[in-house]
Amino acid sequence: MAIVNMREVALADQRVLIRQDLNVPIKDGVVSNDIRIRASLPTIEYAMSAGARVMLMSHLGRPKEGTNDARYSLLPVAQRLSELLEREVSLIDDWLSGVTVEPGEVVLCENVRFNRGESADDETLSHQMARLCDVFVMDAFGTAHRAQASTHGVAKYAPLSCAGPLLSGELEALATAFEQPARPMLALVGGAKVSTKLMVLESLSDKVDQLVVGGGIANTFIAASGFSVGSSLYEESLVPTARTLIDTIKRRGGKIPVPTDVIVSEALSQDAAATRRPVHQIRTTEMVLDIGPETTQRLTELIHTSKTVVWNGPVGVFEYEQFSNGTETIARAIAESDAFSLAGGGETLAAIDQFGVADGISYISTGGGAFLEFVEGKTLPAVAVLEQRGARGNG
Ligand code: 3PG
Ligand code: MG
Repeated sequence: MAIVNMREVALADQRVLIRQDLNVPIKDGVVSNDIRIRASLPTIEYAMSAGARVMLMSHLGRPKEGTNDARYSLLPVAQRLSELLEREVSLIDDWLSGVTVEPGEVVLCENVRFNRGESADDETLSHQMARLCDVFVMDAFGTAHRAQASTHGVAKYAPLSCAGPLLSGELEALATAFEQPARPMLALVGGAKVSTKLMVLESLSDKVDQLVVGGGIANTFIAASGFSVGSSLYEESLVPTARTLIDTIKRRGGKIPVPTDVIVSEALSQDAAATRRPVHQIRTTEMVLDIGPETTQRLTELIHTSKTVVWNGPVGVFEYEQFSNGTETIARAIAESDAFSLAGGGETLAAIDQFGVADGISYISTGGGAFLEFVEGKTLPAVAVLEQRGARGNG
């Protein structure tokens, strides 16, 4: 890859504009989960200690462009950054016409999505951003699937454009898992709907040895195997697609292991009663809300014999204790295994957090949509532009 890495660039006294993904959840004006902020710190600290004049950019939420809507202000992020860096990080409201920063100092530019033209990757806006800096650093892996002014356009016009350490680390972890994976390779794809992860499933069925499905997705596969899923959430129209996926992977000698037992309930609530059923005995009034102990045991064994594990999405409604056993046991199995394990996606991160297994996972991605698009085999536009700049010697 021709991408230039920030660590190869002389940063002293340079105006360095870093695009981070600081799109974090905020509750009552305070950052409620700072994983993405903490993941960005090594890049920021490196640039500051190299003597750069550091300007950070990020989006937050999806505000209407052209207005500074206080609900989407990065102020809580600036406050959290100040705490973590143990120094004042000022938030600059009006930054497009120029920012003053001293060497070794850092400022945060207000939400890039307040600017008209951001989402459309507008040329004028991209040039304005590029003029702010000597070096543009793309470090927002979580937003690398967006071709927008602050992720893509600016990288075309900045005097020098390179990848930050977080972005490079993410790409390396993805390459380890997908380019020449140690086999057997297992992928676990959970979540509510086949339709939202159809391309992910198609792409994985072509690569992995075991494609474990969980959550609402598994229900469609249970139906495709000829069983009733009662009143569970499932997608009838995608049953033929599920059958095709089962056949595709089988032809390659792989498998989609469909649950043999499940945890069901007639209601989805905190105190709903949970019952175990063999998969052929689900009643019409029942919903499948977790995998059963026999299935959990079988999947745990599969995980322990795998050398590469990719995990996206829970296998049950783990927010409620009585439906959390499957996700918890599998999360622990992934963490305990010696396999190279890569996890990504919002719900997956929440499960990793809830069960305290982060230390055992080889790499936890900060990407949600970006992670999935990579797994789908799509080109990430913000990475492609860095490759083009790198291949031209940043000309
Ligand atoms: C995310 O949280 O997935 C990224 O920050 C991208 O946000 P977006 O989907 O609003 O572009
Ligand atoms: Mg491990």
